[in-house]
This record gives sequence, structure tokens and C-alpha cells, in this order.
Amino acid sequence: MGQAKVIDLGEYGPRFTEDPHPVYAELRALGPVHRVRLPKLDAHHEVWLVVGYEEARAALADPRLSKDGSKIGVTFLDEQLIGKYLLVSDPPQHTRLRGLIAREFTARRVEQLRPRVEEITGSLLDAMLPLGRADLVESFAYPLPLTVICELLGVPEFDRAAFRKLSTEAVAPTSGASEYEAFVQLASYLGELIEDKRCSPPADDLLSALIRTTNEDGDRLSSDELRGMAFILLIAGHETTVNLITGAVHALLTHPGQLAEVRADMSLVDAVVEETLRHEGPVENATFRYAAEPLDIGGTAIPAGDSVMIGLAAADRDGTRYAAPDRFDIHRDTRGHLAFGHGIHYCLGAPLARLEARVALRALLGRCPGLALDGPPGEWLPGMLIRGVRSLPVRW
Ligand code: HEM
Repeated sequence: MGQAKVIDLGEYGPRFTEDPHPVYAELRALGPVHRVRLPKLDAHHEVWLVVGYEEARAALADPRLSKDGSKIGVTFLDEQLIGKYLLVSDPPQHTRLRGLIAREFTARRVEQLRPRVEEITGSLLDAMLPLGRADLVESFAYPLPLTVICELLGVPEFDRAAFRKLSTEAVAPTSGASEYEAFVQLASYLGELIEDKRCSPPADDLLSALIRTTNEDGDRLSSDELRGMAFILLIAGHETTVNLITGAVHALLTHPGQLAEVRADMSLVDAVVEETLRHEGPVENATFRYAAEPLDIGGTAIPAGDSVMIGLAAADRDGTRYAAPDRFDIHRDTRGHLAFGHGIHYCLGAPLARLEARVALRALLGRCPGLALDGPPGEWLPGMLIRGVRSLPVRW
């Protein structure tokens, strides 16, 4: 039976941003799929929200749920300004775009970045440790993935501070106008960066390689597609991982028993990363999908043209999949979590994100035996896409 009642998520106020889990638990208890009105800042107002684990997993892999707005006659802001990219395309276009980039992000390829990731981690800690106290986000968790992805793509160092501000505003906007402005500026910045690289002698970075790349059939990326690829790699490459590192440290510092176990056996770091992904994954909800034809999700009829939001955070705390789901427990079996999505849009950067988080946690715990919280975490990022705090004061 469908749930016709519209649930206004805006009515929960700021506490929904701080901790959406009790609301998702309430919704899961009522059924796996709901019609919800999104809090104001989100661009689409009424959507279907999938909160049950099995339904979310199936929906992520359902080809009737399209990522391409043109299937329902809409072009969204990001696509208008940035161009076509992986998360706004369906096969065969998606298959083609992913085929041109996938080999750069395989687990084997990413493993080759380990020495450089360790080096960047080490120099961030060298700068931070003499201070005795710091905001972990500012000093460590943000610059690490930002530096890695900027180096990989060839974004010059002097541009990074400006780029960071725009990118955070694009994924967790504080107002509709500032979101628009961030997209305009990102599009123009990336367009110029690509033109610069096109006119310069070939450099040893991924963006330069993509400009020249052709596959076996002579296929290559158009200017719009290059801009879209640079956009999604740069933004998805750090706005998420920062919250994985910060979230893992916060979880350990608030669970001293588990922290002591990890300190005694660093091989548990991998389990910390996976349980953080399940318990408080950085992507709260998958990006929008659209019903290209009428379909049924968990007994709810979704008409053609409707928007569907798949709740990754809600699914990963479904008690029918994970016992006592609100408990942070590094010993649980986390297999099957949806923090990196599922199906053809499964996160391309998952091996890189895991590498960075594991290296970061090992180095931080290894070099900071007395690490402790130094006050409450900063405010939670606005919106329903990214889950993370703006700051985490720590001392050692
Ligand atoms: C902890 C860190 C990360 C998390 C939790 C995460 C999560 C996700 C999720 C949930 C999706 C699917 C979204 C959807 O289906 O709507 C996705 C897609 C994607 N991610 Fe990540 N991501 C992370 C790090 C990264 C990194 C480091 C990169 C960069 C290399 C990256 C690049 C991408 C790309 C390119 C896609 C689109 C794939 C496609 O459409 O085929 N991500 N990510």
C-alpha cells in the first residue's frame, strides 16, 4: 500500500540536520518509502524517500530510476552550468564516461598513491603536533583529501583555498543564491583550468591525461564532459572523505573502550573505517533519481516523472539488516553497507577514500597517544546530501 501522506521534514527544524537518525527510524517504522517535503534549501520540494535497506539497495540498481533529468524534461542547475557528468547520466552515456576514467581508480592503481598519501599525512601531522591542540578538520581531515585529489588532477596549490570555499558551498549550500554563485564560479574556474592545460606542454597529471586520452575506438571527452569530470572528481574526491576521517576520529574519541582496542591492535583500523561508513557515512542520501516510467518500490506506486531520494544513512541503520543499528561497534559485520552507493553509480573513488582514511587514522593514532576531544564538535553541514561537522576541536 502506498503512503499518500506527505511528511514535512522542515517541521523537524535544526535538530533534523544535527541528528536525522531518530526521524529516519520513525519513518522506517512506518514503512520503507515515504512522500516527503524537503527542508527549504533543497532544490526539489516533494520527493519519495526510500528508508528501508532492501528497498534502497534495489532502488540504487533499478534502471527505471534515471539520473538523466532530460528523461523527465528537466535540466538541473549543476548540469546547465558544469556539463554532463557521471552522476547526471544513464547508459550508454554513463558507460562511456565511466569507461574513460575507471582504470585510473582501480584498487591497484590507487595503491600506487600510498607513499604520497603517507607523505602528505606525515607533513600535516608535523605541522599540527607542535600546537598541542587544533581543529582536526582544518588542520588534518580537510587538507589531506583536498591535497591528494588536487595533486592527482593537477589543480595548482595557490588556487586551493578559493576552490575549497566554492566546493563546500556547492555540496552543502547555506542559501539558494550562494549555491548558484558557487556553481557559476566553479564552472568558470574549471573551464579556465582545462584551457590552460590544453595550451601548456603536457603535464603529468590526470586532467592533462584526460585532455589527451582516447580509448581504443578513438573516443575522447568533449570540453563539457571534461569540465563535468573534473567537477565530480574534485568535489566527490574530498568533500566526502574529510567527513569519513573526522567521523571516525569522533566515534573513537567518544567510545574509549574501542579506541583502546584499536590502539592495542592497529589492524582494527580497517574495521573502524567500515563501521564509520555504515554508522555515520558522509553521504546521507544518494543524489536524486527520476522515475523514467511508473514503478513500485516496497509496495508504493511511484508515478513516472517523480523524484526519488535514496536514504543511505537511513538504510544503513535499518535494524532488519544490522542489529542494534545505532550502536557504533567495530566488531560487527558491516558487509553490504550502502555508504558508497550500489549499482552502476557505485563510488568510483571508494578505494582512494578507504586508502586515505586508513592511512590518516593509523598515523594520527600512532603519533598522538593522548588524543582527546577539546570541546564539542562544530555545527553539522546543512542540507541532506553530506553528513559531517564543520570542526572538531582536539588536543593531545
Ligand atoms: C568516504 C568518501 C566517499 C563516499 C562516502 C562516497 C560516496 C559516494 C556515493 C554514495 C556515490 C553514489 C551516489 C549516487 O548513486 O547517487 C558516489 C559516486 C561517486 N564518487 Fe564517491 N564517495 C567518496 C569518495 C570519493 C572519492 C575520493 C572520489 C574521487 C576519486 C569519488 C568519486 C565519485 C564519483 C566519480 C562518483 C560517480 C560515479 C558514477 O556515477 O558512476 N568519491 N560516491
